[in-house]
Amino acid sequence: VEPTQEWADEVRRLAKARNATLLAHNYQLPAIQDVADHVGDSLALSRIAAEVDSDEIIFCGVHFMAETAKILSPEKRVLIPDERAGCSLADSITADELRAWKAEFPDALVVSYVNTTAEVKGLTDICCTSSNAVDVVASIDPDRDVLFLPDQFLGAHVKRETGRDNIHIWAGECHVHAGINGDELTAQANAHPDADLFIHPECGCATSALYLAGEGFVPEEKVKILSTGGMLDAARETGAAQVLVATEVGMLHQLRKAAPGVDFQAVNDRASCPYMKMITPAAMLRCLREGRDEVFVDADVAEKARKSVERMIAIGN
Ligand code: 13P
Ligand code: SF4
Repeated sequence: VEPTQEWADEVRRLAKARNATLLAHNYQLPAIQDVADHVGDSLALSRIAAEVDSDEIIFCGVHFMAETAKILSPEKRVLIPDERAGCSLADSITADELRAWKAEFPDALVVSYVNTTAEVKGLTDICCTSSNAVDVVASIDPDRDVLFLPDQFLGAHVKRETGRDNIHIWAGECHVHAGINGDELTAQANAHPDADLFIHPECGCATSALYLAGEGFVPEEKVKILSTGGMLDAARETGAAQVLVATEVGMLHQLRKAAPGVDFQAVNDRASCPYMKMITPAAMLRCLREGRDEVFVDADVAEKARKSVERMIAIGN
């Protein structure tokens, strides 16, 4: 199925007939982003999911995001066009592994990135996203140990920014972001010395970016460690003619729309998330025609998980 205008018209017609709202993550294929009612990062989309008054949410993203939408709006039907769209980062810690880790640090508070399963969120004190991880950890009593999971690069960023030494970091990673490495970033930064660098904190190259700035290879003000939502805000404000972007390549579509005069280039143009790209034009049609795949979260798990997500939302963005 090609994402033609006829395809888009059919998607819109079916969504209307179902009274469904279409949400798409920033890493979706451009055609899926363009047909959706709302495009955003995982936190913004969860908030929208909780607020819209349609009967149904169709979540074009990965499974943990659709689960979070279901946790926040249990009364709505939540569909994902392909339930096999998982996440290698969410898979890097299981609920049993977290139980064992908590047993080693019984007095610690658990901070989990939203890229986790509902069961892991249910064992969590406060959730965070890449846009608010530093604020969430900074809000915790400085004498209290923190278990931060599952992303080691985001954890290292939070540790640097908060200056805490009582933060224990799980060694998980997203294979897409971890693969954007320091050598590639250095080569690109050398080839484009006037460009700004927008780096997602999940990237393997985040430390190299700070090294380049710290050693004076790149002016400090040109290096920005940002969530996907933060990148869009920075794109509208940058004075640079070119920006090198270290995150999943789907992000370039929204950046180019937000600042058409700026030349956005991927630091690694192979950084495409295979799970995000399982939401194809054909999968969208199947979802809208057959009402599949529906997302269910066990009621007890959802209630516990909701508390950790709501605590995050209360701390702010
Ligand atoms: P957000 O910027 O939406 O939090 O997402 C990062 C990510 O990798 C989601 O898969
Ligand atoms: Fe998960 Fe990484 Fe894909 Fe995001 S880009 S959904 S963290 S595998």
